[in-house]
Formats: sequence, C-alpha cells, structure tokens
Amino acid sequence: MEKQSIDYRNPKLVVDSSNLEEGEIKWRSPSNIAIIKYWGKFGIQYPQNPSVSFTLENAYTETSFGYASKKGIDKDIDLEFYFNGEVNVPFGEKVSKYFEKLIPFYPFLKQLKMTIRSSNSFPHSAGIASSASAMSALALCLCSFEDRIFGTLSDIDEFRRKASYLSRLGSGSACRSIYEYAAVWGESGEVDGATNDYAIPFGELLHPVFKTFHDDILIISKGEKSVSSTIGHGMMDGNIYASSRYKQARQRFHEVLIALKQGDLESFGRITEGEALTLHALMMTSYPPYILMKPNTLLVIQKIQDYRKRTGQPLYFSLDAGPNLHLLYPDEIVGDVQNFIESELRQYCEDGQWIKDNVGGGPLEV
Ligand code: DP6
Repeated sequence: MEKQSIDYRNPKLVVDSSNLEEGEIKWRSPSNIAIIKYWGKFGIQYPQNPSVSFTLENAYTETSFGYASKKGIDKDIDLEFYFNGEVNVPFGEKVSKYFEKLIPFYPFLKQLKMTIRSSNSFPHSAGIASSASAMSALALCLCSFEDRIFGTLSDIDEFRRKASYLSRLGSGSACRSIYEYAAVWGESGEVDGATNDYAIPFGELLHPVFKTFHDDILIISKGEKSVSSTIGHGMMDGNIYASSRYKQARQRFHEVLIALKQGDLESFGRITEGEALTLHALMMTSYPPYILMKPNTLLVIQKIQDYRKRTGQPLYFSLDAGPNLHLLYPDEIVGDVQNFIESELRQYCEDGQWIKDNVGGGPLEV
C-alpha cells in the first residue's frame, strides 16, 4: 500500500495582526555533502531515489528573519532581502517565490512585513552550492516563528521534521541539512521512518569514525555553473539511463548504509567516488549533454587516487553538481592530507583557495 504523505497545510496559522509585536529570529544552518546523490525528482520535489549525506560544519548560511505585521491588506509577500549587508533583488525574488509556495502551510506569510538578512560563511561565488544551507536556514526561521507565535512546534522531533519538509520545498538537498552528522532522505525500506517528505537523522547509527570525518573543499573554479541543479534534475526525465541509475542508487544506498554503520572505509570510499562520477556521467548522457567538471577536477582526482595507492591512506573524493572537489577522510590522517593539499593540490585551485570542513553538529539558533 502507498504510504500516506504528510499534510502540513494549515489555514489556522494566521496571526492577530493588531497584537503582533515586531521581532527577529536567527538561524545558522550548514551545507551538506551527499554520499548517495539525489539526482532526478518527481511531483512536488520528491526524490527518485533515497540519498544519504554528511552535514558539514564550516560551510553555513546565517539568516535573520525580521518580522512586523503588515499595515496594508494586499495579498502579496512583502519582503526585503539583504545578502551580505546589501539589498539583493534576484535573491529576494527567489525567496518571495518560495514563500508564495508556502502560503497553504503558513498563511501568516501574507500578513507580515519581513526583512531577511543572509550571509554565507564561505566566500560569495566560491562555486559552493549554497541552496541547501540557505533554504534550510530560512525554513528553520519560519518554524521558530510558528513556535514562537502559535506554540505548535514545541516537540523537537516534530520541529525538525517540519523544518526539513519546508526546506525540501525550497531545495531538495536542503532537507538533509537539518540534522547533526548525517541524514537520510527518501523511501527505501532500509531505514525506519524514512520518507520522501522530509529527511530524518542518521547520526546515531553512524560509526564513530565518521562523526569526526573531514570534508575539505577544493575550489577548482568559482565560475557560475552553466546548468543549474534544478535544470539538471529535469533532464533526468529524458535520460535513457535514468531507470538503471535509480536502481543503482538504491543498491548503493543499501551498501553504503552498512559501511557507515560498520566504519568500513574502503566500501564507503568506493561507493562515494562511484556516486560522484555517476552524477557527472548522468550530466554527460543528458540531452543536451554537458560537462561541469574542469580539466583540473580530473587532474586532482588522479592525484588523489595516486596518493591513496602510494600511502595506503583512506582519502576519497566526492563532487557536487559542479567542478569543485570534496576530500573525505578520517581525522587520524588530517596532518598528512592537509600537507598533501598544500603541497600538491592547492596549485590547481582557483586563487589557491580551499576550505577546511568536517562533519558537524547541525543547525544552531543564534
Ligand atoms: C548534486 O537540491 O540543489 O547536490 O531540489 O532542484 O533545488 P533542487 O536541487 P538541489 O540538488 C542537489 C543535487 C546534488 C546531490 C545531492 O545533494 O543529493
């Protein structure tokens, strides 16, 4: 039997405009790196296959949500959006569209005058996907607002589920940023409680070696991507390999969960790199085909594989939908790996830029 999807629509969440005091809510929410990739979706932002990710620590978005009750009675979303201290109209329009989608869940969005200030910990246009951290930070602010005004989200698990659900509607991968260490999103029959509606925590099941795992990000290119993730997902619908891919993702998901629980670094690394390369293979087999890796991406991949052979150390890579590399490895080899990055890899990074990151403790209200 099809599992019933959760329904968060709620016409009762309207504020008493005459009594609403001005206020502000602020969240810091991290990015995440998918080990099994979400690539291909259906319906309202549902994933074609289950995914699992590590939550990062240093790459985050900080968002403050200022609100007051609206004076006029117009029905539109009323918000001003500042990015890094400056008004940003394109980002503001994106957020307004997102909030419009959320009106059935949060009708109060039409009643507020909102001022949103957002900034990223990583340099702007470092080519790091920021939709996961940005959308999850926003969703967390809205859930805190709901709880502050209506008192309806005092249960922490329910709070996080709803924040994850709302994040998903902003950007699929964002729903996994809500949880510390690791998260699973999508139906599979492998993890109790997993659903397409929202992500659930996986940190408790993680072998300790992964809780202090590193994920250093090498900025190979800062340039804007030629094809956005959202368009890329859409192109999976016409990809001749799509159904085999979804089958493969399920199989790998099953295998990697075992590796994550057992601390099996070798299987983890093999599957992680397989997923990164498959993601890019899917782009190259889309219509029209496209390539987001750069020559230096391949060069560095080669160097990482050589390093592994030479040293026997468990250093692996992953890729997002872009040219930059994530270097994944356990804490016990941090000194060696960071020396290796400085001496042999940094020269292939744009402006020599790379970011030290690691698996982290999830979002924080600040
Ligand atoms: C390659 O979540 O950015 O990072 O849902 O359209 O916003 P939308 O796409 P997005 O896609 C992320 C794709 C990925 C893999 C992943 O994070 O699972």
